[in-house]
Amino acid sequence: MLEEAVEKAGVSLQELSAIAVTEGPGLIGALLVGVVAGKALACALDLPLIGVHHIAGHIYANQLVHELEYPLISLVVSGGHTELILMERPGQFRIIGRTRDDAAGEAYDKIARAMGLPYPGGPHVDRLAQEAESEIKMPRSWLEADSYDFSFSGLKSAVLNVVNQSKMRGEAVQVAQIAKGFQASVIDVLVEKADRAVREYGAKQLLLAGGVAANKGLRSRLAERCEQLNVPLLVPPLGLCTDNAAMIGAAAFLKWDKQEFDSMELKAEPQLKLEEW
Ligand SMILES: Nc1ncnc2c1ncn2[C@@H]1O[C@H](COP(=O)(O)OP(=O)(O)OP(=O)(O)O)[C@@H](O)[C@H]1O
Ligand SMILES: [Mg+2]
Repeated sequence: MLEEAVEKAGVSLQELSAIAVTEGPGLIGALLVGVVAGKALACALDLPLIGVHHIAGHIYANQLVHELEYPLISLVVSGGHTELILMERPGQFRIIGRTRDDAAGEAYDKIARAMGLPYPGGPHVDRLAQEAESEIKMPRSWLEADSYDFSFSGLKSAVLNVVNQSKMRGEAVQVAQIAKGFQASVIDVLVEKADRAVREYGAKQLLLAGGVAANKGLRSRLAERCEQLNVPLLVPPLGLCTDNAAMIGAAAFLKWDKQEFDSMELKAEPQLKLEEW
């Protein structure tokens, strides 16, 4: 992969300025492989090493195509995270809301599996939701009136109930109508909370990030809302929404600008906190 990457980029390893690598959070096995490879390269090429937070990567994927203006609100929706983050300066993150149970992407994948759709289920549920003409109404989880937190496990259970009831009655599962109802619920809550955060914190931009940022329904509903709010919505191009290496390079510039490098002691941190990175 490394060989292919430098070949496609038209550069040689010797021309690089630094090596950026995801230090966390995530599964320890995957992180270890990356950190060891990153250190080996930095050592062999005598280059500075920069450990990067995976979610900072998702957020800064936007900077590859947009100019960021602070303060901004980031809505991170991925396989493991659903967070609203206030950013008053480059590289400064304050999490104002997070999921209390399942992440949005995780909920997509779980309900997709229950309906027999391939993994990852997000894109399939998204497509079916666009195609369906009617929806099966699903609950919305707003939590406390002033909360920016999210909860998707109740919605997931509601979907599983509908699926199981159809199966018990020997009826065909209405996959597309369920997908549409599920997606409408997820999007309603994400849009309302992001809107409130943008207004409360006077954000100059709303920035969308993470794998679920590829969701067509979410992108169009957020774009509509941002137009009403007169606040630009920044979304990464589709290829930069789900995990990719370019986004890790983009976030590494935060440290590069300050010439803040890591030593060969850099460790994989499965629980690395964004606010402490
Ligand atoms: N069009 C889409 N609609 C909804 N979800 C989508 C879409 N495309 C991808 N996803 C979801 O995005 C998720 C993958 O995103 P990502 O790669 O950022 O997750 P991750 O790296 O596993 O989690 P994290 O970044 O939180 O550690 C999967 O859950 C997938 O179903
Ligand atoms: Mg990810």
